[in-house]
Amino acid sequence: MTTQEIREKIEGIIDPSTNLTLKETNAIKHIGIDPEKGVVVLIVAIGKTGSLEEKAVKRQLAKIIKLDLGFNGVKLQIEEKRKLESIVNKNVKFIIISSGKGGVGKSTVAANLAYALTRKGKKVAIIDADIYGSSMPKILEMQHAYPKANDEGKILPLEAFGMEVISTEFFAEEGKPIIWRGAMLSSMMNNFFYEVKWNPNTEYVIIDCPPGTGDVALDLRTIIPNAEALLITTPHLAASHVAVKAGYAEKQLNHNLIGVIENMSYYINPVNHEKEFIFGQGGGIEVAKKLDTELLCQIPINQPIHHLSLYESDEEIGMIYDDLATLIMIR
Ligand SMILES: Nc1ncnc2c1ncn2[C@@H]1O[C@H](COP(=O)(O)OP(=O)(O)OP(=O)(O)O)[C@@H](O)[C@H]1O
Ligand SMILES: [Mg+2]
Repeated sequence: MTTQEIREKIEGIIDPSTNLTLKETNAIKHIGIDPEKGVVVLIVAIGKTGSLEEKAVKRQLAKIIKLDLGFNGVKLQIEEKRKLESIVNKNVKFIIISSGKGGVGKSTVAANLAYALTRKGKKVAIIDADIYGSSMPKILEMQHAYPKANDEGKILPLEAFGMEVISTEFFAEEGKPIIWRGAMLSSMMNNFFYEVKWNPNTEYVIIDCPPGTGDVALDLRTIIPNAEALLITTPHLAASHVAVKAGYAEKQLNHNLIGVIENMSYYINPVNHEKEFIFGQGGGIEVAKKLDTELLCQIPINQPIHHLSLYESDEEIGMIYDDLATLIMIR
């Protein structure tokens, strides 16, 4: 018996959570046969897992494969359709930008790294995971607009500087704070990954996190367990102390820590062109050493010339972001 014949036998099964057949929902993702054991291997996507509906589908699949087709057994993997077909299951690199302390430049670095990757021709998406303190729309100079949905009810992200962006700010009234509770926060995070129709060619998703280690970090561990993380600190030793704690948390969450970025490292005095270490020195390297990782770059203090928060390649800081993007790409 071929996998095609098996497909024909099982594709008429109705998924009760959608009331459509497995064929109609394109639910059969994989069929394999282990001829030695006489076992069929199946991956099937249904509307809702962990439900009575899942049990019903499993029962029908087992009946057809074992009783009707005479196989010894079936190795079944049932996935939730929205998750299986979401960006999480695509060949995409997820990079989490985090820090111990607030205000060290996470959002600025997240936006500029995303923009530098875009300049290098990469298709990049930004998820603003700082639900309460989201600043990404402002950083990217975006007008307030509510995202639209497509025919399938998926949320369409907004665009800025060639990048796709999603932020809770788009769903709130302009300028009003968000006072959602934990459960809503968690479902918002799920929606960003599972319910947004991201460009299918997306190569990098940059995730701007709130400061510290909280619920968002835990949610991210569940949604994207293989994500990579960049840790932002300032050069001051008090800030780096807190950054180390955040770094340990990232490691505990099994995120692969790519390295440390020291932001606001120095200011170049326009008169004598010398570096002035306004916020102290040594924080970045100390964090990298303690976490057994690398200090990837040191970004000086300066205002962008062309935009509100984004730097271009003709600026010193823009060039540092270009190098950082290259480093990320060749890893
Ligand atoms: N290298 C830099 N030179 C000059 N200003 C900077 C630099 N990096 C960040 N800033 C400024 O510092 C402020 C804080 O930056 P940002 O909002 O990116 O930090 P954050 O870590 O995301 O903060 P929060 O914890 O509130 O989310 C912003 O006004 C930003 O424009
Ligand atoms: Mg921020």
